[in-house]
Amino acid sequence: MAALCRGAARLTLPICQIRQGLYRGYSAGSSFQYILVERKGQSQNVGFIQLNRPKALNALCDGLINELNQALDSFESDPQVGAIVITGSEKAFAAGADIKEMQNRTFQDCYGGSFLAHWNRVSSARKPVIAAVNGFALGGGCELAMMCDIIYAGEKAQFGQPEILLGTIPGAGGTQRLTRAVGKSLAMEMVLTGDRISAQEAKQAGLVSKIYPADKVVEEAISCGEKIARNSKLIVSMAKESVNGAFELSLAEGNKLEKRLFYSTFATEDRKEGMTAFVEKRKANFTDQ
Ligand code: CAA
Repeated sequence: MAALCRGAARLTLPICQIRQGLYRGYSAGSSFQYILVERKGQSQNVGFIQLNRPKALNALCDGLINELNQALDSFESDPQVGAIVITGSEKAFAAGADIKEMQNRTFQDCYGGSFLAHWNRVSSARKPVIAAVNGFALGGGCELAMMCDIIYAGEKAQFGQPEILLGTIPGAGGTQRLTRAVGKSLAMEMVLTGDRISAQEAKQAGLVSKIYPADKVVEEAISCGEKIARNSKLIVSMAKESVNGAFELSLAEGNKLEKRLFYSTFATEDRKEGMTAFVEKRKANFTDQ
């Protein structure tokens, strides 16, 4: 992973984005405790977040989720960033919610405090988020990956919802997103037995889109992020919104949403530029307008 950090250019952040503790090494006097954050890619247009709690296999404690949300907020408002990559370590993307932190919680704590409510930030991101998963993606770790838009997996990645073995059930969308991704039978099997699936099984079931050797998965995810970031950010957000509509809406409603967004692209400079560039046989120069 050290190699990942080599060659990372320093960020020049707009003043509004230099917030306390936002970028490790880039803001004076404070840093993240549980994550590493930087911009990646040749044009520095891919936001990169690495979960960095190795001793606990990136267990998702409250502090880590808060930092992740802060980093996402910042990349979302950074006009240079066109896509975001979230990764962990070679051993673990994330081994789930922090069991030690959860162990003594009561129903009243959970219900009264809306436990895990703030975990949803990734799924509400308007910019595309790619999960680069090596090692364990278990429980909340699998759920975090599934909140992302695209999952790339290393050859030895393992996905699972083992909450049943702890006497509980997935609480951050596992029963819902996994079922939509892999279908009822495999989702039921995983949720009811706690058994894990390999990267290959996850690919076959449609949970991940690509598998790479462990030491390549992050760079491939960044490269996918760069490819996305070269397109119009405005239109990319519309495309993402439309695909996500497929998870929430009926086919008729989804098709209506798509049509409205499609029509909306005709109100943009980038749609004009894209089609004009094609006709003029040149590369489009998108301005996100
Ligand atoms: N929470 C807190 N600590 C965790 C953790 C978790 N989810 N997963 C691992 N750790 C800690 C271990 O306690 C251990 O710490 P110590 O050295 O201080 O004892 C350290 O990480 C290394 O873990 P192991 O020694 O267990 O490593 P291993 O290689 O033998 O096993 C593993 C790896 C199979 C992932 C195993 O750690 C494991 O089963 N972890 C728990 C997975 C799990 O049940 N996840 C679901 C959590 S509940 C949830 O996520 C709810 C939800 O839907 C949001």
